[in-house]
Amino acid sequence: MNTEMSKQEMEGEIQRLAPFHHKVDLPYGLKTYDPGSSQRHREQTRLDSLTRHAFPKLLEACGGTLEGKRVIDVACNAGGFSVEAARLGAEYVLGFDVADRYLDQANFIKRALDLEQVEYRKMALADCDEAKIGMFDIAFCFGILYHLENPVYEMKKLASVTRDIMLIDANVYQAPFSRKSLWKMTVPRVIESDDKTTTALWRTEKRCQFKPNVRAVVEMLDVLGFPKVEILKPRERGLEFRYYRGKRVTFLARR
Ligand SMILES: C[S@@+](CC[C@H](N)C(=O)[O-])C[C@H]1O[C@@H](n2cnc3c(N)ncnc32)[C@H](O)[C@@H]1O
Repeated sequence: MNTEMSKQEMEGEIQRLAPFHHKVDLPYGLKTYDPGSSQRHREQTRLDSLTRHAFPKLLEACGGTLEGKRVIDVACNAGGFSVEAARLGAEYVLGFDVADRYLDQANFIKRALDLEQVEYRKMALADCDEAKIGMFDIAFCFGILYHLENPVYEMKKLASVTRDIMLIDANVYQAPFSRKSLWKMTVPRVIESDDKTTTALWRTEKRCQFKPNVRAVVEMLDVLGFPKVEILKPRERGLEFRYYRGKRVTFLARR
């Protein structure tokens, strides 16, 4: 347990930084989830349910442990998945995000849990570059693909620093009656900087984003050099409904 932060200090930081998108257990029986300031049910369930859904397959693909692995956590937000990777033995985890507010949350959790092997940086996906950040065995790419303005370009950047596995969790376009690869463009609403209900604080101006259908993700992964793709069936109970309805899909892709 971290001895540098007192219980009062942690409680103060939880209140100051809430709401968190990831519920993480902290020392002194505290959690980042605070029902008083929580804005969405997902804040309570997101980290736990996606971990139960996707990590058993990830571990299977890695021989049962992440020991010795270098993990990159794209769009890490509060860093819950980086913490999970560290818990499973990862040697080094780099989480990055473009929003200061989420990085403040992630760094508070890192400090509270005294996780030396986890580092957070302010960086955009398009800035992935081996010379700056090194190479990684595993990339987590959760909740970001369908928000990208230049998705194939940005995912190529991620592929260039990923040696072995990409785990992608994304909303997908359910195109009726089509077997083709499709990307649906939208121009989502601009977000006010004091809006605490959202995980989209980066959307400060009008921009395009593209939601792929499942086939487009699989074909893109093939182009990126990750041809072995498994679509993880939502077998776990307690996942968000969008997984069972096929609106949200998790892909485990290997070189
Ligand atoms: C829907 S949240 C997903 C957070 C987390 N990965 C998860 O699945 O719970 C999207 C995150 O992407 C971050 N983000 C948006 N554009 C980004 C970019 N170009 N590069 C890195 N992070 C980005 C946002 O700040 C936000 O934290």
